[in-house]
Amino acid sequence: MPITNRKTMELIKRDVDIVSRSLTREYAFAYKKANGCHVWDVDGQKYLDFCASVAVMNIGHNNPNVVKAIKKQLKYGTHCAFSDFYAEMPVLFSEHLVSMLPKKFDRVFLSNSGTESVEAAYKLARWHTNKKWVVAFKGAFHGRTMGSLSLTNSKPVHRERFAPFLPVMHAPYPHYYRMRMEPNECSDYCLQELEKTMKKSDGNLAAVFAEPIQGEGGYIVPPKNFFKGVRKLCNEYGALLCDDEVQAGFFRTGKFIAMENFNVVPDIICMSKPIGGGLPIGATIANRKIMNWPPGSHANTFGGNLLACAAGMATLDYAKKNKLGENAIKIGKRMLERLKEMQERYENIGDVRGIGLMIGIEIVESKESRKPAKKLRNMIIDNTLRNGLLLLPAGESVIRVCPPLIITKEQADKGLDIIERAIKTMSKC
Ligand SMILES: Cc1ncc(COP(=O)(O)O)c(C=O)c1O
Repeated sequence: MPITNRKTMELIKRDVDIVSRSLTREYAFAYKKANGCHVWDVDGQKYLDFCASVAVMNIGHNNPNVVKAIKKQLKYGTHCAFSDFYAEMPVLFSEHLVSMLPKKFDRVFLSNSGTESVEAAYKLARWHTNKKWVVAFKGAFHGRTMGSLSLTNSKPVHRERFAPFLPVMHAPYPHYYRMRMEPNECSDYCLQELEKTMKKSDGNLAAVFAEPIQGEGGYIVPPKNFFKGVRKLCNEYGALLCDDEVQAGFFRTGKFIAMENFNVVPDIICMSKPIGGGLPIGATIANRKIMNWPPGSHANTFGGNLLACAAGMATLDYAKKNKLGENAIKIGKRMLERLKEMQERYENIGDVRGIGLMIGIEIVESKESRKPAKKLRNMIIDNTLRNGLLLLPAGESVIRVCPPLIITKEQADKGLDIIERAIKTMSKC
């Protein structure tokens, strides 16, 4: 595999000639079509998809319910200028979205992407509190437009030459494996550091932004009680807790929003990636007392797009009816157990962590040194590609496992077999 990659190579040549070089392509995969948990490249090769088009296709590729809903909406139109006129579909979608959340969430701002959902949360937090500073976490990824980029801190290349940024300070995220601490010790340390950082704002603090599980930073699961501590500090310092669920949300960890795993209720929620079933939607959700900005303070052209909202309705409906959260927990547990067994057997697997189907495998030079083995990680991903499995990296040396939530145990086992063979082969190279 692949038998021939002529069409892939031809397409890449054209792409290189026209498309902005700022995009990061990890390897030579050129999409042709997809269905369920599988994708095909332009040369006709079939792959099992363990990245769900970067945690987007939670309900599976080309989901028939979503296709049907889009076709139905097409009869009535695609765009209604929702920031200027009224329409039912975006209202219906917003009603369904908040019905999945605790009662206090009763206002929705719709946009088109993760970064926009974060921009809206950032502006709302500043508007509502009328305060200036925001604290985010080291290693965080919240997007790439100037507001969300000011919060982002995962790779230097994201920020290089883009300063000055908005007034954001960064505190350590409790990555206890890397920090070589016990979970509780690490949580206490990071909470102390967070408080010190919050104090620096001198009473001028609007919000704390956090990913419930860091995504791009390396699929990092914080200690169980960490967010309880963050919530407490936010209450004490009058800061809004803004929860970026763009990657971890929508049943990926079993729960509708990943923050539920920590029994913490945030003030503002950002969602995007999977909620449109492959169509672009961003949503920023809060209580009406917080989302109390006046007309004109924030809006956009495409938020509430009819096709996207019709797809979003069908996506939510499908995920609920088919209990995708339960499948994420069941299959995720099976995968985590097998990966933990592999961790025992292979010197280069330093850590395995995750909740539901958001799992990170940290590849290291040795268990003792814990030194990130980026080159080896990339070789493993390359090898799995050649054997019919799509994976993506995260962080410095992590393999992220985030398949569609419809994945079966047979598909999960097959993918893990390919990963295990790749680790076995590549770690000897
Ligand atoms: C947690 C998180 N927030 C925000 C974003 C930005 O989303 P988008 O790429 O749709 O702007 C991402 C994208 O990976 C993300 O993982």
